[in-house]
Amino acid sequence: MVKLMVSTEENLKTAFAGESQANRKYTAFSRKAEKDGFPNIARMFKAIAEAETIHAINHYKALSMVKSTAENLQVAIDGEHYEVTEMYPPMVETAKKEGHKQGERSTHFALETEKVHEKMYNVALEKVKAGEDVKKVNYFICPVCGYTFEEDDLPDNCPVCKARKESFMKF
Ligand SMILES: [Fe+2]
Ligand SMILES: [Fe+2]
Repeated sequence: MVKLMVSTEENLKTAFAGESQANRKYTAFSRKAEKDGFPNIARMFKAIAEAETIHAINHYKALSMVKSTAENLQVAIDGEHYEVTEMYPPMVETAKKEGHKQGERSTHFALETEKVHEKMYNVALEKVKAGEDVKKVNYFICPVCGYTFEEDDLPDNCPVCKARKESFMKF
């Protein structure tokens, strides 16, 4: 009898994906619990979500996937570029064809936002190559669509979903 052995590397990749998803699920569940009037369950979900983040990062580090900041920025650029050019456009089209309104909305929101992320990471990589950090600015995130802004060019309304700037989250 041959028992197939899964390598630790494969296990860590599987675990990283699972823990990453658990973090996002619990974050979504936390927000829902808050809305449903269970602030303590919301806090429990939030705390455990953070623990899953620690697990995910531990697995990712064990895979030696966290490298220099320049290398990490390149990985980030490649990921965003893939999403913008290959992943999201056909997803938006499929959602349209299926009449899946919420799916069309969420994939469109992500597609438009990832374009900005790719640009921001490219700017950062050029800076790091020159031995510099990016300039100190506040970052703002649209809570509806995730669109990402720097404080220098903050519009009154989100260009993607029209949310008001007063609702943006500051980082
Ligand atoms: Fe992104
Ligand atoms: Fe938005």
